[in-house]
Amino acid sequence: MPHTKLFIPGPIEVSPKTFAAFCKPMIGHRSNDFKKLYAEIHPKLQALFYTQQPVFISTSSAWGVMEGAIRNLVSKKVLNCMCGAFSDKWLDVSRRCGKQAEGLQVEWGQPILPEALDAKLAEGGFDTVTLIHNETSTGVMSPIKELCAVVKKHPDVMLVVDSVSSFSAVPIPMDELGIDVLLTGSQKALALPPGMALFSVSERAFARAATVEGRGYYFDFLEFKKNQAESMTPSTPVISHIYALQSKLEDIECEGIENRYARHAKLNALVADWVARNGLEFFAPEGYRSKSLTCVRNNREIDVPALNSKLKERYHAMIDGGYGKLKGKTFRISNMGDETEKTISELLGWLDDCLK
Ligand SMILES: Cc1ncc(COP(=O)(O)O)c(C=O)c1O
Repeated sequence: MPHTKLFIPGPIEVSPKTFAAFCKPMIGHRSNDFKKLYAEIHPKLQALFYTQQPVFISTSSAWGVMEGAIRNLVSKKVLNCMCGAFSDKWLDVSRRCGKQAEGLQVEWGQPILPEALDAKLAEGGFDTVTLIHNETSTGVMSPIKELCAVVKKHPDVMLVVDSVSSFSAVPIPMDELGIDVLLTGSQKALALPPGMALFSVSERAFARAATVEGRGYYFDFLEFKKNQAESMTPSTPVISHIYALQSKLEDIECEGIENRYARHAKLNALVADWVARNGLEFFAPEGYRSKSLTCVRNNREIDVPALNSKLKERYHAMIDGGYGKLKGKTFRISNMGDETEKTISELLGWLDDCLK
């Protein structure tokens, strides 16, 4: 059976070059070879995060760090901004960590708006806010700059930003925006296999963590900090992923980060044109649409599973049939990672053919 190319919003297609790096022989994680590897990629990671702070490698998917951020930072109460499947879940996760938590819920398909966040924070009592920049389930990108400015008005409130499906597709200047924890996963725009997360933590967030009980060990930010100072990780890291990341950072350097952002915007616009051309609608309102994926409102009542079957049989490719309660009502097309004008145009042509 030929491989089915993934145009779903993660995991996405991994290039042969990345896989070759992933398959390099093992090294000891306490060896000088490992320290050299981490030390070499670290400044490149800092540049991608737009931060002077240390950048950590977590052997977990993003949820490990999302839960870790709650355990490290919340002593009073966390406000979870909720606008889709992943951001909604963060409230549940906060409560499962035994923390006081409240949601700022908006309808799926809508962004989190600064006015709503401002009003909620004005009620007082919160010491942490969680925000998903790009809600992958709905294709909504919330206005990060404006939301960060709102949180900045509250010096005791920490801001945790999930950039799982926007990192390296659009710029997120962590230090400039005053983000306290910025995290991402490996299987989205970085186009690596799933299983690794990257994150950075502000000085004030380290200071907060030092006062919070029950941080545990595996995701203790202070353990990460201590180890990173020696180019190491607290526990055995996922070395294969780190080789793959090293290779991806080379690719990004070669392409140029601004070119990478421009490529994502261009490919996203190609998909948007296709949506409009086909009499379909967007699930997200204009101005708040993701640049890394498109969540299409299925207003034509297309049989999406049938469409995907044809796509798979004829062209060995697949798109996503909608997440959770949006299954069938929406479908999603990813344009993140290594895609090009040629590959996205090809996909759109295949979709046209399968829709005939
Ligand atoms: C925006 C966002 N946050 C968090 C997650 C959770 O990531 P993981 O399942 O890799 O832990 C996802 C997964 O798709 C996501 O899209």
